[in-house]
Amino acid sequence: MRQLEQRILQDGRVLPGEVLKVDGFLNHQVDPDLMFAIGSEFAQLFRGAGITRILTVESSGIAPAVMTGLQLHVPVVFARKHKSITLIDDLFTAEVYSYTKKTSNQISISKKFLHADDKVLIIDDFLANGQAVQGLFEICDQAKAEIAGAGMVIEKVFQAGHQMIKDRGVRLESLAQITSFEGNQVHFASETTN
Ligand code: G4P
Ligand code: NA
Ligand code: NA
Repeated sequence: MRQLEQRILQDGRVLPGEVLKVDGFLNHQVDPDLMFAIGSEFAQLFRGAGITRILTVESSGIAPAVMTGLQLHVPVVFARKHKSITLIDDLFTAEVYSYTKKTSNQISISKKFLHADDKVLIIDDFLANGQAVQGLFEICDQAKAEIAGAGMVIEKVFQAGHQMIKDRGVRLESLAQITSFEGNQVHFASETTN
């Protein structure tokens, strides 16, 4: 998505440890117009897929997920993060380790908001190691819901998440695919295909 790539080049900052800081439009301040365009793009890509529900994880996944849900006219559920909770009957839960933050969280979704007849689209802001997506897969498995696809706003193709989703056979659509940060610059997969 060209508009997104241009915004990344304009406002993104490459930090040590192969982290892209995009707090000016995605991770802290949110640009609603850009987010709406991102939602349109995902809605167009997944319109024919029979999606009944969108899942994401709080907090930065919520904006793109809601903008997609708005345009697919389906409800959006965000998994909540906890330090750790004892087993509670009415929740689906999964363990999520963050390589960036070196912390482990549980994420949970109420059984009220995910069912066996759901066709789920997973939306998130970043795909890196894929721990968050993996956690949502586990929750969908617990609910016996079908995973119809994953839509990532920004993907670091060279980290483990990409392959994990592919290995599971889930359709993956990423709106900006970063192939490297060589020379402290952001390089996109689209650079080599056009
Ligand atoms: P993963 O979920 O893909 O495995 O990511 P990982 O464990 O590596 O990173 C944990 C958090 O850091 C995730 O956000 C993830 O989206 C984010 N992250 C990973 N790489 C980058 C990056 O290059 N730039 C930015 N801006 N974020 C990155 P989170 O903990 O779920 O945070 P939030 O949703 O509350 O913002
Ligand atoms: Na994040
Ligand atoms: Na996230």
